Parts: sequence; C-alpha cells; structure tokens
Amino acid sequence: MPVTTALQTLTADEVLARLRALRTRQPVKFSAFYSSQLDGIVTDPALMVVPFDDHMVHRGHGIFDTAAIEAGKIYDLEAHLDRFVRSARNSKLKLPAREEMRDIIVRTTAASGRRDGSIRYWASAGPGSLGLTPVDNGVFIDEAGNVGESSNMNVAFVGADGMLKHPKFDHILSGCTSLRLLELAASLQTRNLITGVQVCDIPVAEARAAREMMLIGSSIKVAPVVEWDQRPIGAGKPGPVARALRELLEADMRSARERLIDVPY
Ligand SMILES: Cc1ncc(COP(=O)(O)O)c(C=O)c1O
Repeated sequence: MPVTTALQTLTADEVLARLRALRTRQPVKFSAFYSSQLDGIVTDPALMVVPFDDHMVHRGHGIFDTAAIEAGKIYDLEAHLDRFVRSARNSKLKLPAREEMRDIIVRTTAASGRRDGSIRYWASAGPGSLGLTPVDNGVFIDEAGNVGESSNMNVAFVGADGMLKHPKFDHILSGCTSLRLLELAASLQTRNLITGVQVCDIPVAEARAAREMMLIGSSIKVAPVVEWDQRPIGAGKPGPVARALRELLEADMRSARERLIDVPY
C-alpha cells in the first residue's frame, strides 16, 4: 500500500515553531513549569513538555497532587505533601527529599507570579526504555479464579492432556499475537505436539499444574515461563510447544504477505 501523506523530518527550530503554533491553536493559562529533567523553570507554555520516553507519558506510571495558592500563599502544602508521599509509596515511585520538593514547589510558584490559583506537581517513574518499569510480571486472576493475562502480554498453557489452552478474551486484551497464533497452532496438532486448541476458562489451579506456560505478545513474541511464584511449571524448562509456536510466528512474520506492509525507506 503506497504512503500518500508527505511527512517531514523536522529540525529543532521547526519543532519550536510548531510547538508555539500549537499553543496558539490550543491556548493554556499555565504560568510556570519546573522540570527535574531540565532542572529549571520555563514560563513559555510551548516549552512545558515531558520527553515521550518518560514512564508517566507512555505507561501512565506517575502520580500528581494539587495545592491552592491563596493571596500569595500556598495553602496546606504539608498535608498535600503527606498525601503525595503516601501515593508515591503505594505506586512504588522514588521521590526526592521532601524539603527539596517543597522548595521547588515554592520557587516555581514564585516564578509564576500568580498570587491566586493552584500549583500541581507530578512524580513519575522517570525516563528509560519504553517497556514497563522493571518490576515482576504479574498474572491477573479474575473474580471467578480464572487466569486472565499478564501485565502487557497474553498468557497460554499446555495442559497435562496436551491441550493448548488460552483464556477467553471477554475481559482481557484481544492480543493480535495470540489471535494469530491460535489460528496457526492447528498445525501443531498434526505434528502431535498438542492434542487440540481451546479458548476457555482456565482455573488458576489447573494453570499451575500445566505442562507448559508461555507469555505471548508483539514485543516478546512467545516466551516460555518456567517458574510461577517460585514453583516450577512442568519440567521447569522451556517446552516444545512454546518453541514450536515461536517458530510458527517467526515464519508467519516473514511469509504472510497479506499481513506485511512494505516500508518506503
Ligand atoms: C495487557 C496486554 N495484554 C496482551 C498484550 C499483547 O497484545 P499484542 O499481541 O497485540 O501485542 C498487550 C500488549 O501490549 C497488553 O498490554
């Protein structure tokens, strides 16, 4: 399919001009903005930006709080900071020292020149890769005790009977990779690697007793899970079905012409 829209690669000056034009079209009334990444305050709203690799931007991993500015004073900031510190703890976010945060909030308020209004402050998990913040990967279990999915991947199992089982998609993400693999997996039955494919409820006890467990998604493709909550899955090593599914997917990614888009480099 041909690319029809001309997309420019912008210079730094052009970016600045466009950010200013954007703020003309979408005016805001923000008076001052401090960024720990820039280690400074800006007052031009066009410059009040956060790098896109910040986890608050692309994963929503961040917290915020707002305090009121009344007649040139910040009202009840200590109570707000207490709550901010609690929120950070609950969200597993590291904060600078309280005195430093208070000082930045006070000085940013001063730089704004605003004597009435409010000041909002955020804490983010910070910049880095575009992946999740490196914490353990969980598996969601629904109220009925059935396996759902992992935090950013789907999950599938091979039961003791050789059945490839995937949770139903009613309340998990319809992963494109899982949906495609469920189609491709039929060929594993003819190779006697599995006895069939089922999309069904999978009680957690059954899942823990699986012969194989795997995570599935566009970035990871198919990754065998060999241990869950310190207990081995099956033989405690990558199994043949996960390997075969990964090979099927890799072959499909190279050969399924109707799914491949040419890139006009
Ligand atoms: C919650 C969740 N489940 C499953 C997936 C896998 O989806 P896909 O195979 O389309 O990458 C993702 C991908 O980001 C996800 O965020």
